[in-house]
Amino acid sequence: MAEPGSVAERIKQQADIVRVVGEYVRLKKSGQNFTGLCPFHQEKTPSFAVHPGKQIYHCFGCGAGGDVFKFVMEMDKVSFPEAIRAVAEKCAIPMPEWRGRGGPQAQQATQQRRLLLEMHKAASAFFLRQLETAEGRVARAYLEDRGLKPETIARFGLGWAPSTGEALVRFLRSKFSPALLDLSGLASRDRNEQAFDRFRRRVMFPIASESGRVVAFGGRAIGDEQPKYLNSPETGIYTKSHVLYNLDRAREAIRREGFAVLVEGYMDAIALAEAGIENVIASCGTSLAEGQVRLLGRFTKNIVVNFDLDAAGQAATDRSLVLLLGADFEIRVLVLPSAEGGKSDPDQFIRKQGAKAYREVLGRSPLYLDYLIARARRMDSGTIESKLRAVNFLLPYVRLLPSPLARSEWASRIASELRVDQAVLRQSLVQAAAERRTEVKARAELLTAAVTPAERRLLKMLLDADEFRERLAGEIARGEVHRGLETEKLFAVLLEAGLPSNGSAEELTALGERLEERDRRLLFDLAFESAAEPSWEEAESCLAVLRRRQFETQLRAVQAEIEALKNQSGGAGTGGKVELLRLLEKKQTLRASLDRLEG
Ligand code: CTP
Ligand code: MN
Repeated sequence: MAEPGSVAERIKQQADIVRVVGEYVRLKKSGQNFTGLCPFHQEKTPSFAVHPGKQIYHCFGCGAGGDVFKFVMEMDKVSFPEAIRAVAEKCAIPMPEWRGRGGPQAQQATQQRRLLLEMHKAASAFFLRQLETAEGRVARAYLEDRGLKPETIARFGLGWAPSTGEALVRFLRSKFSPALLDLSGLASRDRNEQAFDRFRRRVMFPIASESGRVVAFGGRAIGDEQPKYLNSPETGIYTKSHVLYNLDRAREAIRREGFAVLVEGYMDAIALAEAGIENVIASCGTSLAEGQVRLLGRFTKNIVVNFDLDAAGQAATDRSLVLLLGADFEIRVLVLPSAEGGKSDPDQFIRKQGAKAYREVLGRSPLYLDYLIARARRMDSGTIESKLRAVNFLLPYVRLLPSPLARSEWASRIASELRVDQAVLRQSLVQAAAERRTEVKARAELLTAAVTPAERRLLKMLLDADEFRERLAGEIARGEVHRGLETEKLFAVLLEAGLPSNGSAEELTALGERLEERDRRLLFDLAFESAAEPSWEEAESCLAVLRRRQFETQLRAVQAEIEALKNQSGGAGTGGKVELLRLLEKKQTLRASLDRLEG
């Protein structure tokens, strides 16, 4: 971020974002803004906008957005300091001698990150050396027993965290301050405030950023200890949702092959890479996060999703599909046939059936819609209800298809596979299509469908309404009316961050950094939206909508509790009766509050 008074800030003030972006994108003036085809995703109609007044860019399609530095960083894949230099050059602004970025605070944060990276590098080397100790040899045997060659163990930098509980801490203490150790996630403190190793008696998998710097670790128990995997917490250098395991080693292969294989676990990624399938990355946890999708999108837009297809894996696959589709990925889904009907992850599959067999099924992975149709067919038991459920399960995905031709083809396929009336199915598809105003809208729709107009309006007022912004923030915070909303996180960040004073690019970009992709997109949408002058009356009526909704939600919850209690066989006991009375009273109070609001 450009700190006030910093070199970055000065250069940004003099730079012209339109000119810089214009070097990469053909821009056309349109009202206050300039628009063009987004350079961050494939599109045929322009949804990319540059706001010269605010000096920011934003794509309504893929959600990319930020200031001039962010743009150059993403386009040229360069670091922040490099982007500053590049912008200065492009706009012919003289660069002063480089004296580090930002004020003392920013410098301190940079310094801290640098030291944390150094510490992780040292820790990684330490764990590696431990594989040579007597205890570590057990770990090595474990890994070799799981089929890993010594070269593979070395290539992935696998190591061993000793069982003593203070080996790493002791090693790091000689080089780094205790305060830094506390921030690293590598140590915890016991009741006597003594630091001890977070990872003990575990095989260590270093997790690196896409540029190959170790930022965290995953540690696997070699026995039955729980948890099976223990991971680093989030730290100043590690945000889980922004890192993909093995991307640093896989990025070249991903570019070369033109696609990536996405698996769940460390061992899956390693097994595939060892078998020569090097364009593999792991989400490390079940579901893929938006930040991870954005990161991968910088390297490829083609992906084969190969999660374990147990219930959790299937849900993770569904969620990942929506995120990937929203980011314009071309997706295939690989479902591994399990040998004994049991669960088979990529690692197990390769061990049992070999790399050749894996390559074969990989090559035959169906497009995501074929995969979804197969699932829909299993939902269809022949009854009308089950068919309807199956169609509705598929519809949102079909609607995400950008081309009408593709939509139409898939409609015929679905109709014949599920044996539903072609005409009716097309009709509901057309209807669905008519409801979406633009292609962009439809994509965002699946993600932001649940944001009500009242929420939108209140958020907009929090950004723009100079007259009563503070008062509004107070009201929202006091009544906690944002709790449970689709936009809760965004509200919370806005309330907590202190409101942007003039919606400037810095403030928006800084806020954006703290948000999930979807919320960030909404924030930028709102910033760009021109809206009627807000009034306090309007704010109050929006607040009333949210309050009503809050009461209604609570009312439904209480009602559900009442039903549950009534259905419980033991519910008739004294305890049950007291509880029932309490719930009924609560229901009455809520009803009364609602009536007051409406009256
Ligand atoms: N995971 C985790 N914490 C756990 C379990 C799993 O972080 N307690 C993550 C790990 O990144 C793991 C991935 O989820 O690699 C997949 O979990 P799972 O399928 O249970 O493990 P495998 O990768 O199959 O591990 P292994 O083959 O070593 O048993
Ligand atoms: Mn496994």
